[in-house]
Amino acid sequence: MEAKENYGVVVIGAGWYGLIAATTYLSLEPDANLLILDDGESIGGCWNSERIYPSLFAQVGHGLFEYSSYPMRKEGLTKDRYISGKTISDYLQSFAEKNDLLRRTRLNTTVAKAEKADKKWILTLRSSSKVSQVAAAKLIVATGVTSGAYMPDFQSDGFNKPIIHSSQIGPEMDHFTGPNVQRATVVGAGKSAFDTVFILLHSGKKVDWVIREDGSGPLAIVSPMVAGLLNTVDVMATRAFASFSPAILNTSGWWYSFIHRTAVGNFLTKLVWRNVTRIAEWEAGYHLSANAEKLRPIPKGYGVFWANSGLGLASVPNFWKVFHSGDVTVHRTGIARFADNNKVSLQNGHIIETDHVVLCTGWTHNLDLFDEETRAKYGLPSITGCSEKWQRLDAIGDKIVLEKLPFLRKNAPYTVTPRSQNRSWRLYRQLISPTMAAKGDNSVFFAGQIHTVCGPLVAEVQALWGAAFLQGRLDIPSLEVMEEEVAVWCAWTRRRYLEQGRRHAYSIYDHLAYIDILAKDLGLNTRRKSNFFSEMFMPYRPRDWRGLIREFLEAESNRLNTGNRNLEGLTNEARD
Ligand SMILES: Cc1cc2nc3c(=O)[nH]c(=O)nc-3n(C[C@H](O)[C@H](O)[C@H](O)COP(=O)(O)OP(=O)(O)OC[C@H]3O[C@@H](n4cnc5c(N)ncnc54)[C@H](O)[C@@H]3O)c2cc1C
Ligand SMILES: *[C@@H]1O[C@H](CO)[C@@H](O)[C@H](O)[C@H]1NC(C)=O
Ligand SMILES: *[C@@H]1O[C@H](CO)[C@@H](O)[C@H](O)[C@H]1NC(C)=O
Ligand SMILES: *[C@@H]1O[C@H](CO)[C@@H](O)[C@H](O)[C@H]1NC(C)=O
Ligand SMILES: *[C@@H]1O[C@H](CO)[C@@H](O)[C@H](O)[C@H]1NC(C)=O
Repeated sequence: MEAKENYGVVVIGAGWYGLIAATTYLSLEPDANLLILDDGESIGGCWNSERIYPSLFAQVGHGLFEYSSYPMRKEGLTKDRYISGKTISDYLQSFAEKNDLLRRTRLNTTVAKAEKADKKWILTLRSSSKVSQVAAAKLIVATGVTSGAYMPDFQSDGFNKPIIHSSQIGPEMDHFTGPNVQRATVVGAGKSAFDTVFILLHSGKKVDWVIREDGSGPLAIVSPMVAGLLNTVDVMATRAFASFSPAILNTSGWWYSFIHRTAVGNFLTKLVWRNVTRIAEWEAGYHLSANAEKLRPIPKGYGVFWANSGLGLASVPNFWKVFHSGDVTVHRTGIARFADNNKVSLQNGHIIETDHVVLCTGWTHNLDLFDEETRAKYGLPSITGCSEKWQRLDAIGDKIVLEKLPFLRKNAPYTVTPRSQNRSWRLYRQLISPTMAAKGDNSVFFAGQIHTVCGPLVAEVQALWGAAFLQGRLDIPSLEVMEEEVAVWCAWTRRRYLEQGRRHAYSIYDHLAYIDILAKDLGLNTRRKSNFFSEMFMPYRPRDWRGLIREFLEAESNRLNTGNRNLEGLTNEARD
C-alpha cells in the first residue's frame, strides 16, 4: 500500500457544521495542516448545488440562517423572508472560497472507515473506484443528521417504476415532474414528505400519500408568520418564547421557577402551547376535508409542543393552498409491497397504480464509518448504550428531569417508561465522548449531532468549543459529572420530544440554552443584547455573537494571566 498522507486535522463533511469547524480551527491554529472530505460533488452538504431544487426553502428567515461574521445576500427570499435553497448553496460556496477552504477540500470522496490506531485516526477513503488512506492526528466528524438516506426494505418483485429516497429529489426533479409521471406515491409523514407532495401537486400530478396508522403521526406544521405580523422563527429565537419550553439546560433563575415550578406558570405554559397549536391547525386547515384531517398531528391539541414527528414550517409560498386544491389522497396505512409493473399494495388491502415512488422515510444517523467498538468507546449510538451502567444512569437522569420539569410528567400524553435506548447518543455537551475525554483522548469531536433550528449559530459555537477541546484549551469536568449530564440530556429529550427524542438527539426549541451552556464553558458573555427588553423579546441572531473567537482568546489569556500556573502548564502539555 502507498504511504499514507498525514494531516493534522481532517474534517468529514462540507456542510454548515463542517465548514465552520474548519474555519474556526484554522483561526485558532493558522498553520494547521487541515483537510476536508465530502462525498458530494460540491460544497454545502445537504444544501450543495446538486441536492437543492427550486421549491426548497429553509424553514428559517434571513438573518438567522448564517454565520455571525458573514452576512448572507438578500436574494431569493419569500415575502416572509424565508431563504431559497439556491441562496444558501451559493452562500456556503462563497464562504468556503473566502476562507480559502477550497484548496483544502476533496469532494466526491467517501470516508468508508475511520479507526483509531495508536495516536492517529486512519481513514479509508473511496473515490470513484480508488481506495486510499490518510492519517490524521485530530478528527472532526460533521457527517450530518440529514444526509444518510434511510430506505426500508420493501418487497418489490416485478415492479418497474422508479423508487427513490427524498434525498434524491434534487437530481431526479426533472424526471418526476416531467410528462412520464402522471400519478406518484409518496411514503412518510415528515418534512420531506410534505415538501415532496407539494412539488408533485404544484406540477399538476395526482398523488397517493401513504402514512402509517401507528407511529408518531404527521409532522406538526406552523405557519411562517405569527398572526400575519411576526416571523415565526424570529419568535422562536427569543428568550421569552424559549422560556415556555421545558428545557433541561435552563433550570435556574426566577423565570424558570415561576413558569415551571408554580401552578400558575404551568397553566400559562399549557395555554400558550394550546393556542399556538390551535392557530397552527387553523391555518393548516385540517378541518377543511377528510383528507386534510388525516394530517392532524398527535397528541391532539398539543402537536406543536411535543413535535412528536418533528416540527416543520410552511415556508414555501402557498403551501396549504396547493395542498387543498391538489389531487391528493391520503392513505393512513402502510405499504405491503410493490409488484406487477406499477402496483402498490397497501396494508389495508387497497391496490393503487403509480408511475413513481418517493420514499420520505427519513435518515440514518450516518455514522457507519465507525465500527461497533469505536462507536461504543466514542459515545455514538451503539448496543453498549444499553449496558447496566447506563440503565442505572438513565434512571437517575429521568428522576432529575421529572423533578426539575414536573410539566413533562403531569402533561405526558402517555406513560413514558424511562427505558435505556440502544441508539442513544452518549456525548457530553452533544460533542465528545465522556469516557475518552476522561482518559485524556482529545482527538475527535462530533459536530451537528443535534436537531435544532438556527443550525448555523449552533454550528459556530460548537465549532469553537470543539476546536478548543481538540487543542487542549478547555477544562473538562470529571467522568461522573459528564456521564450524569449525558444521562440527564438523554432522559430529557425522550420525555420532551417523545418519538423524536427516542430516535434522535432532538432539541428543536432549546438552542438558546444550549448555546449559553457552551458559551459559558468558553468564557463568553451570554447576555449579548443591550438591555433587558431586547434580551427577552428580540430574536437572538448569529450576528449577536460576532467576535466570539476573539472573546474566547481574551478570556483564555485572562485566565492564564491571573496566576493560575497549574492550568497553564496543563494546557501547554495538552497542546503538544
Ligand atoms: C431538504 C432539507 C431541508 C432542510 N431544511 C432545514 C431548515 O430549513 N432549517 C434547518 O435548521 N435545518 C434544515 N435541514 C437540516 C440540515 O441538517 C441542516 O440544515 C444542516 O444542513 C446540517 O448541516 P451539517 O453540516 O450537519 O450536515 P450536512 O449538510 O448533511 O453535511 C454533511 C456532509 O457530509 C457528507 N458525508 C456524510 N458522511 C460522509 C462520509 N462517510 N464520507 C464523506 N462525506 C460524508 C454528507 O454527504 C454531506 O455532504 C434540512 C435538511 C434537508 C435535507
Ligand atoms: C465529482 O463527480 C462528478 C460526477 O462523477 C463529476 O462531474 C465532477 O467533476 C466531480 N467533481 C470533482 C471536484 O471531482
Ligand atoms: C388563548 O386561549 C385563550 C383561552 O382559550 C383565549 O382566551 C385567548 O384569546 C387565546 N389567545 C390567543 C392569542 O389565541
Ligand atoms: C438493544 O440491543 C440488544 C443487543 O443487541 C437487544 O437484545 C435489545 O433488544 C435492544 N433493545 C432495544 C430497546 O432496541
Ligand atoms: C434561562 O432562561 C432565562 C429566561 O429566559 C434567561 O434569562 C437565562 O439566560 C436562561 N439561561 C440559560 C442558561 O439559558
